[in-house]
Amino acid sequence: MTRYVSANGLRWSAYAALFGVLTRANHAVYQGMVRLERQHSLSGRNSVENNYRVWDEWDWSRGGEEWTHSEEWKQSLIDEVMRVQLAPGTTVLEIGPGAGRWTEPLLEMAAHLVVVDLSDRCIEVCQERFADAPNIEFHVNDGRTLAALASDSIDGVWSFDVFVHIAPPDIDSYLGEIHRVMRKGGRAVIHHARDGHEHFEAEAGWRSGMTAAMFAEMLRKHGLTPCAQFDSWGPGGRFNVRRHRDVISVFTK
Ligand SMILES: C[S@@+](CC[C@H](N)C(=O)[O-])C[C@H]1O[C@@H](n2cnc3c(N)ncnc32)[C@H](O)[C@@H]1O
Repeated sequence: MTRYVSANGLRWSAYAALFGVLTRANHAVYQGMVRLERQHSLSGRNSVENNYRVWDEWDWSRGGEEWTHSEEWKQSLIDEVMRVQLAPGTTVLEIGPGAGRWTEPLLEMAAHLVVVDLSDRCIEVCQERFADAPNIEFHVNDGRTLAALASDSIDGVWSFDVFVHIAPPDIDSYLGEIHRVMRKGGRAVIHHARDGHEHFEAEAGWRSGMTAAMFAEMLRKHGLTPCAQFDSWGPGGRFNVRRHRDVISVFTK
């Protein structure tokens, strides 16, 4: 402290000391919130209602490409994850298409594509964008279930930049629903938070409290089989989802 005072003066040093105290208090309060979320299965800030409000009012004029790290990154996710994990010429479900950033390549590979989104606005945007596609159907849902879909009707599931914002209790509900709608041997690819709220910085990307381990445990609970969890892909792991400490889970029924 005396080192700081002689170098920066008393007033600056007092502010610096106060900053340290407030930062520690901030973390302690935050950890208290996280503990309560876990103990009582709370949705916290990632509730269905908040997701609806944020995404239904979003300016979709950039098509969701504002979240594309680079063209190479996007193409590699399509070529080395989507097309490797999901079988072409089958029935695929996309949860949370937004403005259709991944819907376009999914439409090219799927025989039939079912898109489900909480936001009616997003479904309208996709209906306009893919008005000429003969092999797509659209559903607005409640943010937790897949009530419009028949059991054992889906071969593959894709969801990117969606479950990262969904609270663990709602993810739990979705995984039960995915088990119901997916045919035996079906395969799902879901991008979600890796560290939950272990790190204060997770707040920056409005990540939910999900963790990689919690997700794998939920899969087993619902009779789904985890195949892989990874946060990078491509030559030498060149591309990744580490910016907000995310991970991609691949699983089968
Ligand atoms: C960040 S945007 C991503 C859109 C698109 N997947 C992309 O990567 O460009 C999140 C999308 O997930 C949808 N969403 C958020 N929570 C949802 C939930 N609980 N159930 C279904 N869709 C949800 C939003 O309406 C929005 O379309």
